[in-house]
Amino acid sequence: MTITLDYTNMMADAIGPEYGVTDAELGELAAKAKEYHRQIQSRRNSGELAFYDLPDQAENVAEILSFARQVQGNFDDLIVLGIGGSALGTTAIFNALCPTHNLQSKSERSGLPRLFVLDNVDPDGFAASLSLCDPVRTCFFVISKSGSTVETTGQFLVARQWVEAVAGDSFRDHFVLITDPQNGALRELADREGYRSFAIPAGVGGRFSVFTPVGLLPLACVGVDIAALLKGAADFSHHVCNEDLMKNPAYLNATLQYLAYQKGLGISVLMPYSDRLRDIADWYRQLWAESLGKKFTTDGSVIHVGPTPVNALGATDQHSQVQLYVEGPFDKVVTFIRVEQFNQNLPFPEYASSPHMSYLAGHSMGELLRVEQQATAAALVKNQRSNCTLSIPEVNTATTGALLYMFEVQTLFAGYLFNVNPLDQPGVEEGKQFTYALMGRQGYAEKAQEYASITADLGSRSLVCR
Ligand code: PA5
Repeated sequence: MTITLDYTNMMADAIGPEYGVTDAELGELAAKAKEYHRQIQSRRNSGELAFYDLPDQAENVAEILSFARQVQGNFDDLIVLGIGGSALGTTAIFNALCPTHNLQSKSERSGLPRLFVLDNVDPDGFAASLSLCDPVRTCFFVISKSGSTVETTGQFLVARQWVEAVAGDSFRDHFVLITDPQNGALRELADREGYRSFAIPAGVGGRFSVFTPVGLLPLACVGVDIAALLKGAADFSHHVCNEDLMKNPAYLNATLQYLAYQKGLGISVLMPYSDRLRDIADWYRQLWAESLGKKFTTDGSVIHVGPTPVNALGATDQHSQVQLYVEGPFDKVVTFIRVEQFNQNLPFPEYASSPHMSYLAGHSMGELLRVEQQATAAALVKNQRSNCTLSIPEVNTATTGALLYMFEVQTLFAGYLFNVNPLDQPGVEEGKQFTYALMGRQGYAEKAQEYASITADLGSRSLVCR
């Protein structure tokens, strides 16, 4: 498998010294990269950074596959209940590898169940999704590392009642809990009430958990070859575990993004030219934002740092975003993902009667999409806009595994460059706590008072139109 990171258009030679990266800057960080690499290895050796080792887990795969076979035999529909890291990776891989699965008839999908990932508590959306399924034939994967996330808890309660109303006491057979091996409300519930459960390994946080049962179990149930997915990541790991910045695409891309940020390019756009990779950009947006958007450095100084990740889709967003990227403020770096070979090429037929269309004959839709990516990169570089291109040979199970693994390592390494802890998310906690307080959760009375006093101090300014 060949994955190429072409960063020509991020360099000062291409886009000038103000926003372009120089070889000297890369050289300086190459020395630091070795030290960061040493620290990463030593943390891995002491059992930290467990996500690194997830691609090598043959014994877990066997257990997941065996359970997946049972699920496939018993259910027509699978629903993931979870949010953030508990949902986005599954959606990304499902839509990359099984883009038409849910639209196919049961026999076209070889009797495999459909998969819905519900990552919101919009009651209209949730009810609409349930209405597509038969409670007797539906299995829920309730996924939460902490076991206490309010959205997932709320989804679970509604789903449980929905199933219990028709399945009676056997409703438990419709729920699989995927959570911390020891702690949290879901683990306690699994132990107390006897739900089938799987563990998210200790030390693996939500957004780094796609290669645990969080992603692997639902994906295995719909026929994704999870062993090949993990192998794709494992086979690529020697590239992303190389200490040499200039040979490691994860370290190099993190470094280029960091240098671009230092030059004022605070918005980092990920723009795959592939419908199937659209949700990988969505997964990456969360990974990059929650990991790097931080108030404090690792030694506790206030820094308020973090690139703002934006996802876009080529060629669709050429007619939506690219005007801004080419002519708007100099605050963005664009990373394209380019697919060298599509499953279908769709050649354009001859159409001699119109000169406005005949030029397409002899070309194909796949070629057009690739050319559009090149053309957009050229338009950007002509306007001194920083951009780089990650090329993958095709979208398949192995390249998807490799890509996600590379982005995880890239994010961890970026944490070193930005000098923040990429594995925590303290900024999300405050909102969660206010939510608990407003929903009357026991132990949050003080938080409710704090909320009341903050909002009272603010007063109210609203424009009401009747
Ligand atoms: O990456 C993360 O840690 C978060 O996005 C979590 O996945 C998200 O907040 C859901 O948390 P939990 O898995 O504890 O329900």
